Amino acid sequence: MGEDFVRDPYPVYAALRERGPVHRVRIPEGAEAWLVVGYEAGRAALMDARLSKQWKNASPSFPIFSPSAGPHMLNSDPPDHERLRKLVVREFTPRRIEQLAPRVRQITDELLDAMAAIPQGRTDLVEALSFPLPISVICELLGVPTLDRAAFRAWTATVLSDPDPKARLAATDEVAAYLASLVRSKRLEPGQDLLSDLIRTTDEDGDRLSEAELLGTAWLLLVAGHETTVNLISNGVLALLTHPEQLADLRADPSLMANAVEEMLRYDGPVETPTYRFTTEPVQVGDTVIPGDGQMVLVALADANHDPARFPDPGRFDIRRPAGGHVAFGHGIHYCLGAPLARLEARIAVGALLERFPGLALDAHPAALAWREGMLIRGPQRLPVRWTP
Ligand code: HEM
Repeated sequence: MGEDFVRDPYPVYAALRERGPVHRVRIPEGAEAWLVVGYEAGRAALMDARLSKQWKNASPSFPIFSPSAGPHMLNSDPPDHERLRKLVVREFTPRRIEQLAPRVRQITDELLDAMAAIPQGRTDLVEALSFPLPISVICELLGVPTLDRAAFRAWTATVLSDPDPKARLAATDEVAAYLASLVRSKRLEPGQDLLSDLIRTTDEDGDRLSEAELLGTAWLLLVAGHETTVNLISNGVLALLTHPEQLADLRADPSLMANAVEEMLRYDGPVETPTYRFTTEPVQVGDTVIPGDGQMVLVALADANHDPARFPDPGRFDIRRPAGGHVAFGHGIHYCLGAPLARLEARIAVGALLERFPGLALDAHPAALAWREGMLIRGPQRLPVRWTP
């Protein structure tokens, strides 16, 4: 995969979309897949029950595998999907999540205090804020106080972005072993956290959440809960710093923040293409019929959100545009469970950052930033910023 594509995939997707809604591509992991582009075709694919999330439905010819510590909602189809999602969804209602706001604000303030104390007035914002905030929040929510964050970060980055399947497998095993030992200790000493709640559900009603499903669910929440929000904060701040007039408007009127976060999700969302789907029947997209024998289908969310048929002048970052209807959190039954949490974290983090650092600026040329490898997660590896201390 070319460096240019990693840095800016949008023109490549747009050129494909001009030619039609689905294309045969080779993904960085080496497998052949069908890439769906455009807003309407993308949403239709995400709603299509003939596209399965289960790896057992994948054609055996694929040289890749699903990294996971066990079965969970995002690698299941109905009816299992509903059962696995129901157990967790009640913890993630917007009302429950809103109650976390004071704690999210407190963690943010601590991180910004540490940043403000840097005498040189420059840092990598990924290290200082984007990474530590979401992982602290999701660890607290799940009850993971002693997590070795540096190791965990390296594992999940490998699992999600390393093109080498062996490295991904090894990292998956390490996370699975870590989670298994965590579940063992929670069984002995349960707390008031989400993981303890899930264990109670398993213990009380064993046929609802198996041990493997428990590990899978914990894994999904930990990985989905921090890898994505990191890049919402980074990509969002980057968009603001490279659009000074939008930044000035937001500083002048912080009530624009909620919509600004929606525009950040639309303009440069953290999930470029969501997780794999496999055909269980032939599926027609435009004039093309994708065979029904476990073909891999990828939906370019990044392109759906830049389809001019849905979002006029899509390459323009405009915090006032009606950005609702973007598919940065997916669509259909697998719509992101953590969307309320991600939105809350981003609003608080970006809002507090702007308040605290009035002269914040990018400390690198935007074209010189190195981006995360792979097509799943989109975000800069580092985001150098500077301010007047
Ligand atoms: C900006 C941050 C986030 C973005 C852009 C994002 C994006 C997504 C997307 C695109 C999907 C659908 C994947 C697919 O259909 O293949 C998804 C699913 C999911 N997300 Fe998020 N996510 C974010 C944050 C979070 C957080 C903070 C959590 C949890 C704490 C979370 C938990 C989940 C779960 C559990 C699913 C699977 C839902 C299901 O299969 O029913 N996400 N997310």
